[in-house]
Amino acid sequence: MENDTIPSTVSAETPASPSDSPPTLVVADPSLVLLVGPAGSGKSTLAARLFAPDEILSSDALRAVVSGDPADQGASRAAFAMLHRETSRRLQAGLLTVIDATNVRAEHRRPLVRRSHDANVPMAAIVLDLAADVVLRRNRARERVVHVDVVRRQLSWLRGTIDDGQLVREGVDPVVILESTAAIDALTIDRRGPAV
Ligand code: CTP
Ligand code: MG
Repeated sequence: MENDTIPSTVSAETPASPSDSPPTLVVADPSLVLLVGPAGSGKSTLAARLFAPDEILSSDALRAVVSGDPADQGASRAAFAMLHRETSRRLQAGLLTVIDATNVRAEHRRPLVRRSHDANVPMAAIVLDLAADVVLRRNRARERVVHVDVVRRQLSWLRGTIDDGQLVREGVDPVVILESTAAIDALTIDRRGPAV
């Protein structure tokens, strides 16, 4: 195992010192990659840095497709139906797929877990586990502010997900847990195609 790779459940807690190699998550290609984090944790920003736009299925973008408004919670049901359908289609086609949604609740991950099993495609997770005050401050500074109670609930579901090791139990491997903005900014992806 190389020192600069993150093979499985790993925390990247402290900023890498300048002499360290940046953390690298090894991801099989294809994979179903779940971003996991509350509103305002930086999922969409990170996805845009690490993946091609056509690889990302975003719940906000699909709500906008459904109703013209990415924040319209009334559009969530139809948006997630589309997200699940497109996930199946892409995985069956052997395409790496990134889910840009909060994914902090097991019941919301379940349909995705099932689709990865059905397509025989492995899952990986990138968990954005920033301090609550950072997430709440970012949320307040945004144009589209999510109600503070909603973000607090998401933070609490995220804590449960991490502390109970739920992702590993759901068959997600590798899982990388990023606990600082420096760790988030330093993460790189190493894609590995199927062994030949
Ligand atoms: N942000 C930041 N520095 C970063 C990443 C994000 O200041 N390194 C800011 C963004 O500009 C944005 C906010 O933090 O204002 C949230 O980032 P975003 O990527 O939009 O978070 P998401 O997790 O995608 O939030 P949501 O679930 O609401 O889509
Ligand atoms: Mg987003």
